[in-house]
Formats: sequence, structure tokens, C-alpha cells
Amino acid sequence: MANWSKIESDAKSWIYTAGETIRQSFQNVLQIQSKSNPDDLVTNMDKETEQFLISKINEIYPEHRILGEEGFGHDIQSLEGIVWIVDPIDGTMNFVHQQRNFAISIGIYEDGVGQVGLIYDVVHDELYHAVRGKGAFMNDYKLPDLKDVPLNQAVIALNATWVMENKRFDHNLLVPVAKAVRGTRSYGSATLEFAYVASGRLDAYITLRLAPWDFAAGLILLEEVGAKATTLDGEKINLLGQNSIFVAKKGIHSTILKDYLNK
Ligand code: IPD
Ligand code: CA
Ligand code: CA
Ligand code: CA
Repeated sequence: MANWSKIESDAKSWIYTAGETIRQSFQNVLQIQSKSNPDDLVTNMDKETEQFLISKINEIYPEHRILGEEGFGHDIQSLEGIVWIVDPIDGTMNFVHQQRNFAISIGIYEDGVGQVGLIYDVVHDELYHAVRGKGAFMNDYKLPDLKDVPLNQAVIALNATWVMENKRFDHNLLVPVAKAVRGTRSYGSATLEFAYVASGRLDAYITLRLAPWDFAAGLILLEEVGAKATTLDGEKINLLGQNSIFVAKKGIHSTILKDYLNK
């Protein structure tokens, strides 16, 4: 049986080293490229961070497989065995433009079950971490189980694409949600938005399309604090696919899903 606390402690030490390298890099000139479109950025630091993490995982856990956003891992078609899902820099646009509001994210799954989740807010030196069944933490602070709030006292994060027309979802449904809540936010780093829901800084996070490395770690944290996580249709999230994502405190989740999204 895998020793998850040892695996977590190794992953933490690698994430801290990677974070320090990223902080040091602020004084260097970044090499910035575009991927699928001009706004989809990747830098040398995204690639170097992924390569560093993968080299460490391969060295200590050669039998584990790795899915990394920048493609330096394996070709992963199933979650059989132990799979590390890595987003080396989540919030690359923030990293480039703001040097803040980005994170390193690692989710570790065994046969499709989330076992270890780590999200490191590099600039604030805040590591959100969880081992399945052992609770979720922010640094040394144990995150309490989430307590529900009424919708009119909720602060929710929405990816700004919700205001645009799109094929997948009737974006008009979100206007009454935005009106009903106390406030909306958009941080531009999905993994931090998951970490903020897990730590009660946000009451919900809604976004129209995320990839596995954007939610792999966050789902593990949320499970530990009793949050609900589905697609915007209220369906189970496909861990290896693109999904719409709706994560929230349980009561908020069911109110929005039933009363506003008509599911
Ligand atoms: C992006 C961020 C962003 C989300 C995008 C992601 P990246 O990740 O999480 O908040 O809206 O969908 O692709 O590319 O910066 O790792
Ligand atoms: Ca990216
Ligand atoms: Ca990402
Ligand atoms: Ca990324």
C-alpha cells in the first residue's frame, strides 16, 4: 500500500523548492509564448517548473505516472494505478502580468480516487494541502468543515467568460445568481479559487471549462471540508476531460442548481 504521508511530504518539499525558484525568477526576463490562441500564455517558468517536478517524481516514484499541462509527463488515457496531475503554474496570465494570484497545483490519484492534493500560493507562501481522510490544511492551520450561509450573504467566484454567449451553457441563467449573492469575484487562477472555497474565503466557484490539472488537487481539498463539486449540470466531473465546474458549500450548491440553473 502506498505511504501517502511520505508521498505528501515529498511533494511538499518539491513544491516549496519550485516556488522558491519561481520567486527568484521575478528578477529575470521571462520568455513568453502563446499556445492555442494569443491570450493563452506559457512561459519558460511553466515549462521549467513542470520539468523539475516530473524529474523528482520520476526519480523517487518511477512506477507512478504523470499528467502535466505542458506535456512533459506521460500520455495518460486512464487513471489506473497512481497518477500525479500537475499544473506547474496555474494562472499564468496573472504570473506574467501581476506576479501574484497564481499557484502550483498537484493532485495525486490512485485508481481514480483522490489521495493527496496540494495547491501552493507561491507569493503568499500559503500551501493548501490534504491527504484523503485526514482533513485539509492551509500551512499548519486545519481548515474547518464548511458552514452554509444564505445566498444573500455569499461571495462567489465566476470566470468572466460567463458574461459571453457560448455553445455549452445558457449564460443568461447566471445573471440572477450574480444579483442574488452578496458579491462576485474573479481571480484568474482556478486552483486558488478551489482553495478559497475549501478555506471559506469564497462560498462557491463557477466556471465554464476547466482541464484536469485545473481541478485535480482542488477536488481533493474540497472533499475533506464537505463541499459539493459537480459540473454546471449537476453531473459527476470527468477527471480526465474538460468540464464545466460548480463547487460550493452544500446548501449554496443545491439552491443555485435547483432554483437558478433549473437542474
Ligand atoms: C487557467 C486558469 C484560469 C482559468 C483557465 C485556466 P492556466 O489555467 O486557471 O483561471 O479560467 O481556464 O486554463 O492556463 O493559467 O494554468
Ligand atoms: Ca495554461
Ligand atoms: Ca491551469
Ligand atoms: Ca498552467
